Amino acid sequence: MEKPIFFYHQYIAFLVIVCAAVSHGRPYSQPEPSYLKFVLNATEFPSEEYYDYIVVGGGTAGCPLAASLSESYRVLLLERGGVAHGNPNLMTQEGFLTTLTEVDTFDSPAQAFISEEGVPNARGRILGGSSAINAGFYSRADPDFFRKSGLDWDLRLVNQSYDWVEKAIVFRPDLRNWQSAVRDGFLEAGVNPYNGYSLDHLLGTKIGGSTFDVTGKRHSAADLLNYANAANIKVAIHASVERVVLASTSYSRSKITAIGVVFRDQRGQYHHAMLHEKGETLPLILGIPVAYHLPHVGLYLYDNPRNGVSFVPSIPLEHSLIQVVGITELGAYLEAASNVIPFTPPARSVFIRPASAPLYITVATLMEKIVGPLSTGLLRLASTDVRVNPIVRFNYFSHPIDVERCVNGTRKIGDVLRSRSMEEFMFREWFGARRFRFIGPALPVDQSDYVQMADFCRRTVSTIWHYHGGCVVGKVVDRDYHVNGIGALRVVDGSTFSVSPGTNPQATLMMMGRYE
Ligand SMILES: Cc1cc2nc3c(=O)[nH]c(=O)nc-3n(C[C@H](O)[C@H](O)[C@H](O)COP(=O)(O)OP(=O)(O)OC[C@H]3O[C@@H](n4cnc5c(N)ncnc54)[C@H](O)[C@@H]3O)c2cc1C
Ligand SMILES: *[C@@H]1O[C@H](CO)[C@@H](O)[C@H](O)[C@H]1NC(C)=O
Ligand SMILES: *[C@@H]1O[C@H](CO)[C@@H](O)[C@H](O)[C@H]1NC(C)=O
Ligand SMILES: *[C@@H]1O[C@H](CO)[C@@H](O)[C@H](O)[C@H]1NC(C)=O
Repeated sequence: MEKPIFFYHQYIAFLVIVCAAVSHGRPYSQPEPSYLKFVLNATEFPSEEYYDYIVVGGGTAGCPLAASLSESYRVLLLERGGVAHGNPNLMTQEGFLTTLTEVDTFDSPAQAFISEEGVPNARGRILGGSSAINAGFYSRADPDFFRKSGLDWDLRLVNQSYDWVEKAIVFRPDLRNWQSAVRDGFLEAGVNPYNGYSLDHLLGTKIGGSTFDVTGKRHSAADLLNYANAANIKVAIHASVERVVLASTSYSRSKITAIGVVFRDQRGQYHHAMLHEKGETLPLILGIPVAYHLPHVGLYLYDNPRNGVSFVPSIPLEHSLIQVVGITELGAYLEAASNVIPFTPPARSVFIRPASAPLYITVATLMEKIVGPLSTGLLRLASTDVRVNPIVRFNYFSHPIDVERCVNGTRKIGDVLRSRSMEEFMFREWFGARRFRFIGPALPVDQSDYVQMADFCRRTVSTIWHYHGGCVVGKVVDRDYHVNGIGALRVVDGSTFSVSPGTNPQATLMMMGRYE
């Protein structure tokens, strides 16, 4: 049916681009998730097809967004990676480190990249995005996140959207010896009160939600596609979006509007996914390199530094990712993990290892993430090939408040290490004293010395993978997440945040996908 052209700008056809901020487990058998019936290999798509909405990136925000839009519109979701179902490393907590270490340049589910300051990082390249490779901890944003964002959030709708996510994929974790000791240690160190199990951001110590269920199986944003209207949605995997097709509209030649995208399948074939109601559009420019100059793209990029200590405990520990969190007023959040990792003894060691029996050691970790951060970095393209990592710089601790937050947080870790709850993990020396067997740097002995603590923060910085920004609200996108100056193009994901929401971002990213 022909639509009169003056309806063009009101036509419900936004192109939603989800441009992410930077852009050995046990066997299991699980039934196929129902969303798989509308997931297709990109090779099976026609060379041109029309939709009401096109969502680029089947990630943490992209999946709930596409599922929600499919209730009323014809939606295409384009994901460059494959599906996690059937891959035990992705589907279990035990596979977490393997996924992050077994990486290749173009195909692995984790896309590794190293910031210019030398900090290794990763992001998801799989349906579900980074929520399909992450540590699974789930906690809602701090109330300040909504108050200070400059946007008029409808908090009732925010809560309904969180509920929608939680009903489907959030579980209460079972604490075993390490996470229980961590909870007690946080409380002894004064991170009070104890709030039990809660998904809310509450001052003190709490058990948060997990996207790993009671059987240990991961659920990710991809599972939110089970909510989709199967008649209205198609999901293409191994579909790498290379360009956004822009056009100037005939009613206003100055206004540039997105009319579709070009994606490439694994055979190297190109496909066009176009928005309905082309109206009187005039193809103008095809994507990068110079489509539209927005000076703040890639600026205001942030990564929350992670600092802490790791040690080999004197008693065996379960494998655990994050389950307990300490929310302090010190500008830092405390978290912990215990990883059972394969261990290769040095060549000349005294270990005699039968070929079939690998050695494992447990490593217990206490870490802190600073609030914010305030230090800003930047992202630049290294190539117009979308598969090539961009150049990323986070400028960790370039803002003095970030240093103070880290000093506060790492001092609190010192308090936790001195708590009674941690004693059982220390080794007894021959003369009766107890000490930790640290792996990597220990905290400075004199933790009251600010300069030494600040030096520890800088020296031991790593990432908690909560990087955000690059397309922040107010600079690149407006309050409705529309890209400034371009019609029908929106960015809905972590790249729009200028602070990290709460202790861990995935809850709020999934909420946002539903909310929008
Ligand atoms: C190792 C790790 C552990 C973490 N642990 C936790 C945790 O325990 N709790 C927590 O809350 N958060 C955690 N996070 C952070 C959280 O997972 C991320 O902040 C969040 O998932 C980011 O969501 P997003 O929607 O912005 O991007 P993503 O989920 O990364 O989605 C981006 C999607 O876009 C796709 N894509 C990119 N470019 C293209 C293209 N050109 N064409 C097609 N598709 C494309 C990607 O493949 C990906 O699927 C962790 C992150 C990592 C990496
Ligand atoms: C998608 O199609 C390509 C080309 O036929 C093939 O090589 C690839 O294995 C397919 N991938 C999946 C996940 O089916
Ligand atoms: C939203 O939920 C939070 C708890 O998560 C609650 O404190 C708040 O009052 C709720 N807000 C609204 C408007 O329902
Ligand atoms: C660090 O902790 C002190 C209390 O010990 C607090 O007064 C100060 O505000 C904290 N610093 C930051 C940057 O939050």
